[in-house]
Amino acid sequence: MRLRVDLLPHGNYPDVVVIIDVLRATTTAVAYLERGADALLLTRTPEVALALRPEAGEAGESRPLVLGGERGGLPIPGFDFGNSPVEAAAQNFTGKTVVMNTTNGTDAAHVASQTGKHVLLASLTNAHAAARRARALATEEIAIVCAGTDARVSLEDVYAAGVLAEYLLALGGFSIDDGARIALTMRRNVGNPIEALSSSVHGERLGQLGLGEDVRYAAQVSTSTLVPVLVSGEDVPESTL
Ligand code: MLT
Repeated sequence: MRLRVDLLPHGNYPDVVVIIDVLRATTTAVAYLERGADALLLTRTPEVALALRPEAGEAGESRPLVLGGERGGLPIPGFDFGNSPVEAAAQNFTGKTVVMNTTNGTDAAHVASQTGKHVLLASLTNAHAAARRARALATEEIAIVCAGTDARVSLEDVYAAGVLAEYLLALGGFSIDDGARIALTMRRNVGNPIEALSSSVHGERLGQLGLGEDVRYAAQVSTSTLVPVLVSGEDVPESTL
């Protein structure tokens, strides 16, 4: 079994793809599911997300959709929520479908869904469960894909990829590429998750925006056992094995 880590998305994915966007899309996606969301819909653009919400009285109004997403770390006008996992964790999404659109994370998931047979969303908060789910689904290769930020490598995503790679190596039977070696080195040499996340460019920017609580929330490791799995362009909650 091969394990590779892509420091940025580049397409051409194997049977299992694990998308990581720790700050904050995949962390928030897990939080929505933890708070009862039935499903997540990831759109390519904010306009698609806004168009999904039925007008008052239109058919489909019974399907309570809420919209969550950001541009530049701030809520998209017309959306119900930004992309804060702390905000998501404080709500009750039982019976709701959350439509997500973010700068990098949802796009990386869409790119992966074009060729990857199984596309999972991982963060630090569901790292152990995501690693186990990926191993259970894989037959030949697992690609851990770091979403990055504005097409640049994100330190926090590489660190989280190293955490998942560590879990997978402990399950045994993997050969690893240089991307995985870089991620493991990052994991083994940076003191702790909060140091990795708060010292990243995006972590610092979120702190400057007053969203430092999100960074601390995203640094929690394996507090959730829920793993979002992309199904034909939609995500449905998956319990872990
Ligand atoms: C992203 O998708 O790029 C991130 O989630 C951005 C953010 O939420 O700050």
